[in-house]
Amino acid sequence: MKLTYYGHSCFLLETAKARLLFDPYLDDNSLASIKAADVQCDFILLSHAHDDHTGDALSIAKRCAATIIANYEISEYFSAKGAKTHGMNPGGAHLFPFGRVKLTLAHHTSSMGAGLTPIYGGVACGLLVQADGKSLYHAGDTALFMDMQLLARVGLDVALLPIGDNFTMGPEDALIALDFLKPKVAVPMHYNTWPGIAQDPSAFAAQAAGKGHTVRALKPGETLEA
Ligand code: NI
Ligand code: MN
Repeated sequence: MKLTYYGHSCFLLETAKARLLFDPYLDDNSLASIKAADVQCDFILLSHAHDDHTGDALSIAKRCAATIIANYEISEYFSAKGAKTHGMNPGGAHLFPFGRVKLTLAHHTSSMGAGLTPIYGGVACGLLVQADGKSLYHAGDTALFMDMQLLARVGLDVALLPIGDNFTMGPEDALIALDFLKPKVAVPMHYNTWPGIAQDPSAFAAQAAGKGHTVRALKPGETLEA
């Protein structure tokens, strides 16, 4: 599987049968390596409802006729706006033409909009994808939690982990997450998009290496073959 980082928590995963886009936040992210209008994908996987994960989902879903895979509430929301969707919930897995997707736990919030009347966006999730004999875990926005250890049983090839702190795990907890998840390679995400989540991914990679873990910090636009 081929993984391309588009910035923040947005990745394109190219499997043998489909192109999967995770958490598109492109046009409002000055660090993104691509504009929403230029993305090509078949499925859009959303970890939770926050705008920095779903911002460009609808426009891309409609233009590419892509199916949005997300929790039930987010799925219903985008279905009402005219997108093709597939709703799920944590613990549930489904076999798609390209492989299996399971929604996993995440400790975070999930809502759309802001101010006094946000729209309920279900619970925040992680996304586990198994395709072409490989497995990839996109942690979404989450705190560190003990149940991450259960995901190691799958045998993770790739883990995408937030390190920005403030809204999610910071580097210190992400290092513990690596001990729990034991991926062959991890890619940090959800950092440097705004001043409040500024981090040094090379320092994180070096610390991870010191604990026996492999971390590849991708610049927006860079690709990893896993
Ligand atoms: Ni969030
Ligand atoms: Mn976020």
